[in-house]
Amino acid sequence: MHKIIIAIDGYSGCGKSTTAKLVAERLNYLYIDTGAMYRAVTLYFLENFVSLSNPKQVKRALLNIHLEFHRNEHNGINEIFLNGLNVEEEIRKMYVSEQVSQVSAISEVRHLLVEQQRKMAKKGGVVMDGRDIGTNVFPNAELKIFVTADAYLRAARRQQELLEKGQEVDLDEILQNLSERDRIDTTRKENPLIKAADAYVLDTSYVTIDEQVDYVIGLYLGKVYP
Ligand code: DC
Repeated sequence: MHKIIIAIDGYSGCGKSTTAKLVAERLNYLYIDTGAMYRAVTLYFLENFVSLSNPKQVKRALLNIHLEFHRNEHNGINEIFLNGLNVEEEIRKMYVSEQVSQVSAISEVRHLLVEQQRKMAKKGGVVMDGRDIGTNVFPNAELKIFVTADAYLRAARRQQELLEKGQEVDLDEILQNLSERDRIDTTRKENPLIKAADAYVLDTSYVTIDEQVDYVIGLYLGKVYP
């Protein structure tokens, strides 16, 4: 059967990755979380005191970054490894979230990661989520979804997720972080977050996760069996 690319873009904390992961499972597709790649680069920059405004330092640092995804057989998650180390948990922490949009706005960072993302999806059969997948990484993706949701609901959900991981964070701090990331992600010069003209909008404010997944699967079926 024809294997396609499903591009899922949208604002921070809308449930893109939850939806993408489950869609990939249902279709037996590969799930690639491109946000995890930007987060891992951010972690490396923070750990190595790379100055974001120093292009030489940025270029040198990028030469030393090796990213890989490995599937964890226990939970089925495609976990990210930075230079051989599993950083899946570390990259979700607030101190990384606070810097990731600034790092993602750097042109050299984007070029390197976009090239890797295109290679990973060469054979199709991929669900990829991020901010510029349908507009830049795969402008010809067969199915594009643009995800949005009410800002307060997003922040409350993110707070609950962090709490489940043992991190207690103030709701206002999360709301502030999500809005600031949306602001930087939508206004940066290089490939900002915008809805592709041919993307379907999915508002996750008042729907269940099952409904979100069913919506995408329904669109997929319409594309593959027109
Ligand atoms: O999906 P996420 O919240 O884990 O992504 C973290 C940040 O990475 C997000 O605020 C912007 C950046 N990002 C990007 O610029 N382009 C992508 N394709 C994916 C993420």
